[in-house]
Amino acid sequence: MTTQPYAEVIGDPIAHSKSPLIHNFWLAELGLEGEYRRTHVRADDLPGYFAARRDDPAWRGCNVTVPHKQAVLAHLDRVDPAAQAIGAVNVIVPENGGLCGYNSDGAGFLEPLTDLLGQTHLYRMARILGAGGAARAVTHALVAEGFDPVVLTRTADKARAFLDSLGIAGGHAAALESFAAPTDFAFDDRVGLLDLVVNTTPLGMVGQPPLALDFSHVPPGSIVYDIVYAPLETPLLAEARARGFRTIDGLAMLIGQAAAAFARFFGPAPPRDRDGELRARLTA
Ligand code: ATR
Repeated sequence: MTTQPYAEVIGDPIAHSKSPLIHNFWLAELGLEGEYRRTHVRADDLPGYFAARRDDPAWRGCNVTVPHKQAVLAHLDRVDPAAQAIGAVNVIVPENGGLCGYNSDGAGFLEPLTDLLGQTHLYRMARILGAGGAARAVTHALVAEGFDPVVLTRTADKARAFLDSLGIAGGHAAALESFAAPTDFAFDDRVGLLDLVVNTTPLGMVGQPPLALDFSHVPPGSIVYDIVYAPLETPLLAEARARGFRTIDGLAMLIGQAAAAFARFFGPAPPRDRDGELRARLTA
């Protein structure tokens, strides 16, 4: 058993995970003693994994990735309310003698939007494409920030069930083919629209067909955000950029969720002044 503090990412498979690169970069930047590992854990091994880590004083916690983000809830002593609502945990830390689960995907998703969220005079609408696991954290975070969510899936029924399962009473559910913004929402007394379009589907990812979006329904000034990060510039983002929209890529969310987790594992917030170098290493 090691005495050096460590955290790790668990999943099955795990070889592809970029988390060690990110956390070890920050540990080195801060000159902190510690290590971040990649650990292959199969579903059957989860009970044994947690039993061992509970008794390991060097263990600072773990990130959880596919396919365990839901299954780990059963092994925890406490689950943060946001993670409970999302139904998924991606950060686990030892706290007060027990294991506590959090979800940092929502905070990571919102991080690149921080400057916009200061603009309180805009009516906030988010059109969320897809309703899988990633969309749950994204939608929960956006609703917490006052966005009116429009969830689009291949069939509108699935989008409605998704909103219901998140406990979101309002919001709009629509079929992907009817991408036009709904007209029946209340602008109240705010002026102008902040229209965010978010891709949470796998479309545009390496090996997947591109997502075809009808840009005639995207008003000028909208932001197009793709949580896919391989490739960094998806066909959707390339077209949005060419049309003059502000774009945000998936690496921003990946780094943002890691930053929120890092502070829980190792104490200090990670240094962010060298994000450019970190991004270069992640895409090398
Ligand atoms: P996650 O990792 O986020 O759980 P997923 O479950 O693979 O991802 O897919 C997320 C969403 O992408 C799903 O909502 C899925 O759409 P449906 O709800 O209509 O099934 C959507 N998605 C996947 N492939 C798609 C495709 N070819 N066209 C449109 N949407 C697609």
